[in-house]
Amino acid sequence: MEPKLIVHGGAWDIPDEFVEDHLRGVEHAVAETFPLLQQGCSALDAVEKAVNLLEEDPTFDAGRGSFLNAEGDIELDALIMDGATLDFGAVCAVRNLLHPVSLARRAMHGDGFRFLAGQGAMQFARECGFQELDPCELLTERELALYRRLRDDRDFQPIKAFSGPSDTVGAVALDHDGNLACATSTGGTPRKHPGRVGDSPIVGAGGYADNEFGAASATGYGESILRVLLCRTACDNLNGASAMDAAGLAVNRLLDRGKGYGGVIVISRDGEYGYAHNTPRMAFCHADENGVPRPFIRIN
Ligand code: GLY
Repeated sequence: MEPKLIVHGGAWDIPDEFVEDHLRGVEHAVAETFPLLQQGCSALDAVEKAVNLLEEDPTFDAGRGSFLNAEGDIELDALIMDGATLDFGAVCAVRNLLHPVSLARRAMHGDGFRFLAGQGAMQFARECGFQELDPCELLTERELALYRRLRDDRDFQPIKAFSGPSDTVGAVALDHDGNLACATSTGGTPRKHPGRVGDSPIVGAGGYADNEFGAASATGYGESILRVLLCRTACDNLNGASAMDAAGLAVNRLLDRGKGYGGVIVISRDGEYGYAHNTPRMAFCHADENGVPRPFIRIN
């Protein structure tokens, strides 16, 4: 198979002044990762690597640069899934980690578990030798300012925040062996309740991968994405529809039945790319047929 890679960096009304950073961030993730796929690395390794790069980039709501919760803490969720075996690893409400998706990858091989939360996930991180950062190392000026603004907003309603930023990141890859994988990582929503977990670490919602159909990763309003299991819906749609149509139909359902906003990226088992969103803008990048990264801010 010709390898394929697509990544996203959130779906929302990305302001003009953030567009360059989003384009640069998603392009960098593909530029650094796609050559590894061409050299034979697995789809699973590729999605982990691409999401690691996006987690390091303060532009996005994942790893460094994540939103703060209502108590001023950063809590992170991540998922990784292997389309060859349907095996997955996930973590939620973890703190002080730059690369929660890599902890999710380790959870794929957990002794009797695949999905760990909070303190137990952090215990596992220590057992695996992950470096725990000072929380300040994940914090950016931009997010501190947003936190202060929302904290002082007496009219704040969480659902309203979703006309605001939604920079969850994700990647989907197809490797030389025809194996598909997906990974998704997020800091969740601004001023979320401590312990709130959205779609990102949930199989079928924030990501899904099955070699028999395709793979997908989602971004957007988690409570709505969960209602319609957006990524599983997009993969199911591949049974008869093109990748673009599969993504579009899934996003239609996100609005019609899920009553929410977001976007999804898809690769079919044949290596076709799909993407759709119902937000004003979505940032993504794929490797074209010559292996060149093609970053977009897609406008609805
Ligand atoms: N889509 C990320 C979240 O809602 O947590």
